[in-house]
Amino acid sequence: MKTLLEQPGFLAPSGTIGADVSYLLALVFTILFLVAWRMAKKAQGTRHHKLILVSMVAMIVYFVAYYYARSLGVLSFEGREGFGGPDDVYENVFVPVLTTHLILVTLGMILAFYMIPQGFRASDKTGGDYRLNSGELKMKPRTFKLVMFTILGCWAVVQVLLLVTRQNPFGASVAYGMIFATVALVTSLEKLIEKLLPDGAKRHRVLGRTTMVIFALILVTSTATYLMLYFIYPLKH
Ligand code: HEM
Repeated sequence: MKTLLEQPGFLAPSGTIGADVSYLLALVFTILFLVAWRMAKKAQGTRHHKLILVSMVAMIVYFVAYYYARSLGVLSFEGREGFGGPDDVYENVFVPVLTTHLILVTLGMILAFYMIPQGFRASDKTGGDYRLNSGELKMKPRTFKLVMFTILGCWAVVQVLLLVTRQNPFGASVAYGMIFATVALVTSLEKLIEKLLPDGAKRHRVLGRTTMVIFALILVTSTATYLMLYFIYPLKH
């Protein structure tokens, strides 16, 4: 699999199959999200929610497959090796664009995970179509506690599994610990978000638009990275 992904690509003169396929898929997912935004703008709540769910599932499957296929050999972790341009462009353009890209991807994923349950909570299915409900949307204290304890429980199960199955579980424990801590932190931010944007429908629109703008910027930054690596400053062999 790894050798297949390292074969010459079909998009750019010096790309690889792995880079081309992952760029094209990233392009498709981002466009799907933006199409879902257009549907929401046209008040097609149900189509919007279906497309969001399909693209989210597809994107997660892709991330997991990518992780296994390339063992996280994402260019960002390969450092200077993939970039054939001058040092000042590397430091002043390439690294800032790539760092912005990684920050946006993290933010976009967190927001998308927040927005999906929020979409269901903020809307009602009337006459077969989802519509956003205006009015205060608050999580009941009981539900909040239940969600927090569920997160804690899942973390404990993962931790036990790591201890039982791995010889050296330290690295994975830290990584999973950070993931669960982020989930708990975002969940606890709900209280603050409820204060700032009490209206459920307005919250969905404001945070939803922010998420969509972030997705559009992810597309811009990944395109810029791809162009720099494989068109403008490829490695000279
Ligand atoms: C990643 C997740 C999601 C994002 C980023 C998102 C984003 C948005 C945005 C930006 C709008 C407002 C469009 C505009 O006026 O500019 C919107 C509206 C809406 N969303 Fe979502 N959404 C998400 C998930 C969901 C889900 C899961 C549901 C499902 C129940 C849902 C239901 C709705 C409804 C009913 C509207 C109102 C459409 C109308 O105006 O009639 N959304 N969403």
